[in-house]
Amino acid sequence: MKSAAGVPAPRRIGGATALAGVIGWPVAHSRSPLMHNFWLAQYGIDGAYVPLPVRPGAFETAVRGLQAAGFRGTNVTIPHKEAAFRIVDRLDRSARRSGSVNTLVFASDGMIEGFSTDGEGFVANVQAHGIAVKDGRALLLGAGGAARAIAASLLDRGVAVVLANRTPARAEELARALREDAAPAVEVVAWDDMATVLSRCDMLVNTTSLGMEGGPPGDFPLDLAAADPALVVCDIVYVPRQTPLLRDAAAHGLRCVDGLGMLIHQARLGFCKWFGTDPVIGPEVEALLDADLRGQGR
Ligand SMILES: NC(=O)c1ccc[n+]([C@@H]2O[C@H](COP(=O)([O-])OP(=O)(O)OC[C@H]3O[C@@H](n4cnc5c(N)ncnc54)[C@H](OP(=O)(O)O)[C@@H]3O)[C@@H](O)[C@H]2O)c1
Repeated sequence: MKSAAGVPAPRRIGGATALAGVIGWPVAHSRSPLMHNFWLAQYGIDGAYVPLPVRPGAFETAVRGLQAAGFRGTNVTIPHKEAAFRIVDRLDRSARRSGSVNTLVFASDGMIEGFSTDGEGFVANVQAHGIAVKDGRALLLGAGGAARAIAASLLDRGVAVVLANRTPARAEELARALREDAAPAVEVVAWDDMATVLSRCDMLVNTTSLGMEGGPPGDFPLDLAAADPALVVCDIVYVPRQTPLLRDAAAHGLRCVDGLGMLIHQARLGFCKWFGTDPVIGPEVEALLDADLRGQGR
């Protein structure tokens, strides 16, 4: 739209504009602003969502300041998810089970509420691909923050989980935490032995940063040639969308689920809480993010 002077009309941000954002360090690469501002425009909501670069150590100061400045809440990404877990006043069950928080809501009673939406975002994305998430067994590669959230959501749906992590102590620690939370169906397998359990699994999920652009070099000690043709292979890395693991899985004719949909589904709860509308997750937002990733040669 053009103003009377022929220059583009400025986006109107006023006293009633609902504000939210994403706190991370670094945060410039985050696609969350693109996604949330797309939904705000789509639904004609008077709101804005901004990247908030906050250094480690400054997280709590920043959060209290944003709350005082009237923000509705924020997303939280690396490296602040555990710090967010520690400072919130109210934790929902998903956050308690994940030990981390990726969504903050500044409630009207002055309390800060914390949610973890990664696990449910993962499950919703797999389901959106027409794959049922119930019963069966998943081999989960990794034992970091995302692994914990995803494992908890899979266990909630009766899916048994086998953990394999480069650092075995972290996998054991995660298994212990999940079992204490009334989830006995957790096993651990050594990183180099992951191939030995694959034939017992219906799903393989990469939650490590292997395969991520700019991530660590290396490969999984896995030969998918021997996998059951019904195996579903999921990668939560979404830059690039088609990771080496997914390329290999596709080459062997296996069903694949990439990580972009998880990013979109995990964003839904925050948008709904801050802006009062539950966004419909349609092909437009996925196409927008996909084009943005491709625009940068990804
Ligand atoms: N799609 C989405 O919406 C979404 C959401 C959250 C995260 N993610 C992606 O998921 C990945 C993990 O995130 P996170 O928050 O869980 O990170 P994190 O807590 O730092 O965990 C990283 C995991 O990667 C493993 N790892 C790192 N380098 C490795 C290597 N060279 N070989 C084998 N394993 C290695 C680590 O193993 P050790 O314990 O041995 O170090 C650990 O299990 C990131 O790429 C992130 O971008 C995607």
